[in-house]
Amino acid sequence: MAGEWILTVTAQTPTNIAVIKYWGKRDESLILPVNDSISVTLDPEHLCTTTTVAVSPSFEQDRMWLNGEEISLSGGRFQSCLREIRARATDVENKEKGIKISKKDWEKLHLHIASFNNFPTAAGLASSAAGLACLVFALGKLMNVKEDHSQLSAIARQGSGSACRSLYGGFVKWIMGKEENGSDSLAVQLADEKHWDELVIIIAVVSSRQKETSSTSGMRESVETSLLLQHRAKEVVPKRILKMEEAIQNRDFASFAGLTCADSNQFHAVCLDTCPPIFYMNDTSHRIISCVEKWNRSEEAPQIAYTFDAGPNAVLIARNRKAASLLLQRLLYYFPPSADTNMNSYVLGDKSILKDAG
Ligand code: DP6
Repeated sequence: MAGEWILTVTAQTPTNIAVIKYWGKRDESLILPVNDSISVTLDPEHLCTTTTVAVSPSFEQDRMWLNGEEISLSGGRFQSCLREIRARATDVENKEKGIKISKKDWEKLHLHIASFNNFPTAAGLASSAAGLACLVFALGKLMNVKEDHSQLSAIARQGSGSACRSLYGGFVKWIMGKEENGSDSLAVQLADEKHWDELVIIIAVVSSRQKETSSTSGMRESVETSLLLQHRAKEVVPKRILKMEEAIQNRDFASFAGLTCADSNQFHAVCLDTCPPIFYMNDTSHRIISCVEKWNRSEEAPQIAYTFDAGPNAVLIARNRKAASLLLQRLLYYFPPSADTNMNSYVLGDKSILKDAG
């Protein structure tokens, strides 16, 4: 493996949005959750991370750049992912470049990693999910790791919980698992991206500022202080998960929307029940909720579901393209980008709608 060579792999991973939320860990270092969660993976064209991992004998240490700026790799989470991937590395041969790397060589070789998000980082748009999933996937390819997506998801989970759900497209469930070592806490695909492809996801970026309370510390405080979180994890989510799986299987939008909105609202209620309370949504987020509730009630059946992660940005899921088109018109009318609503842009889960809307 001596000589001057460099081997690279580039991967692209979309972010995912939880419709049944993960909020709370039963084990902080292994990142084991207090409940199952379900998410939908976004179209990779719009919100995704692109990561290039490179290995060369001339690299003297592991280094990483995020959106062009070097970041520290001393954190335990990155090291856990790297350790788990390295332990599964196998021989790599690149005949074209005349490179042979044996399983043992991987322990000595250093990596350079460059990662880009095409959306605001740490603004409650699940940037860590796409980032860590992409990193684990790219490293797995570089080191010729033979594990399947579910096993890789258990590694990505140790980088950031929600990342384990980004290794699949479509609808994904993170099974909380029972084992103390976390071996059964992994993601499975419930339905692929073609199963319910008339859904359109619109993200209303209310603010792209970084959030004040990270998900990690927010959920730690909720676990320590919120009684509602205990009730939610034990009594509410297990039943909701079953109903959500059924709604997805049957493409039953009314049930899907009801469960999605209720779960988002309960997650933010847990944040309020935390001491001191955590406020992720702002006035504009609340106004969006009221408008969507009103619009849904004015129709025969719900047309739009809303969900908010650890930030004020609204993720709106429309029943179909027609509903999405009307939603977009209404959003632009009631929340004009330049007005004092502070809502500055829209990112769409389906680019053709953007064309339709002119
Ligand atoms: C509100 O996965 O960012 O988006 O595991 O500490 O890295 P860590 O937290 P993270 O939490 C995401 C929380 C959420 C809900 C969800 O995605 O399920």
